[in-house]
Amino acid sequence: MPTNPFREGLATRPAPGPGVLVIFGASGDLTRRKLVPALYNLAHEGELPANFAVVGFARTPISHDEFRRQLHEAATHHARFTPLNPAVWATFADGIFYQAGDYANPASYRELAALLDQLDRQRGTAGRRVFYLAVPPAEFEPISRQLAAAGLVQADHRVIVEKPFGHDLASARALNAALTKVFAERQLLRIDHYLGKETVQNILVMRFANEIFDPLWNQKYVDHVQITVAESLGVGRRAGYYDTSGALRDMVQNHMMQLLALVAMEPPIAWEAEVIRDEKVKVLRAIRPVAPECSVRGQYIGYRDEPGVAADSHTETFVALKLFIENWRWSGVPFYLRTGKRLALSASEVRVQFRRTPNVLFAAQCGQRLDANALTLRLQPQEGISLHFNGKVPGIGTTVQAVPWSGRVA
Ligand code: BG6
Repeated sequence: MPTNPFREGLATRPAPGPGVLVIFGASGDLTRRKLVPALYNLAHEGELPANFAVVGFARTPISHDEFRRQLHEAATHHARFTPLNPAVWATFADGIFYQAGDYANPASYRELAALLDQLDRQRGTAGRRVFYLAVPPAEFEPISRQLAAAGLVQADHRVIVEKPFGHDLASARALNAALTKVFAERQLLRIDHYLGKETVQNILVMRFANEIFDPLWNQKYVDHVQITVAESLGVGRRAGYYDTSGALRDMVQNHMMQLLALVAMEPPIAWEAEVIRDEKVKVLRAIRPVAPECSVRGQYIGYRDEPGVAADSHTETFVALKLFIENWRWSGVPFYLRTGKRLALSASEVRVQFRRTPNVLFAAQCGQRLDANALTLRLQPQEGISLHFNGKVPGIGTTVQAVPWSGRVA
């Protein structure tokens, strides 16, 4: 196997310890499309500890084996390493369990606690538990209270929540207050899965582990930045959630703002979560309120016919914004954000477009304008970085033309 230079040095990282991941909302889309495929990927890469288990918790009464069958199908469709390796799957599936229950019923949590104790004994999961709330946000608070009441919240337990984290500022604050009543701040992980993507993690590495980009990374040299997350998929079977959310809440305030913050932030003083968070906050605070004429909302044709979508829905499935970050580095540089479902193709990328060079030399041969340089960080598909620069077309004469250079980073 060729060595991956980005993995060198990882051998010194501590191996993950034992534990159980309990997924509330085990029959939902997030579990099927993201969580279980991601866990299988980790199993495939040998990154899961031996003493590990996954417990799915949802309403429908099914057996452990039926749950394993459903997850096998999900991983077959959505894992990165396909076709699935039967031996890896078999070992992973041995650690998969299912607990049917009602989120509001204390008895269900007692049953869950009994299963978790049993797994500690049988699989050596050592009482370490992570609760992943892959459920609508209205369930976050009741589930947290029930977990606490059943004695399931110990100091070394963690709870993971994803967006939507409230609907607006007031509801986000209320939800935060409710969760922090039950969990200490260090137990509470509010995650954004975009931050797990290789290329997203590579934005800061690329910016701050290379000397060549930083001197150019400002309003003097950057003409504009484009952040695009285009999806060809429609709303699928998620209308119940999506129709109350829309592209702005589903993609922009979370994933795209994270991308924006990583591209625009100042160098953090340490590679530590809170330090990086503080720098991101400074960027977000510097964003000027978006003028109505700098935003576009759209809905794809056929959206209202999707199962579960209101016939008169005005929910946007596309949004584009022009933002300005009013700080020393970025003043006057437009950041264009756009995202949508059922678009012509699936492609996510960050493009940093530099200013044009003054074309005093080649105007006679190539017209007045030379292509501007652009650095593109492609998140998916085909993660990679590419740089567009100008070069001479081989042959007699001096014709200048844009030449793409690209490299894979993952
Ligand atoms: C989720 C959104 O957070 O991200 C979905 O709710 C979207 O609507 C998904 O499809 C996109 O994630 P990815 O990893 O497929 O780009």
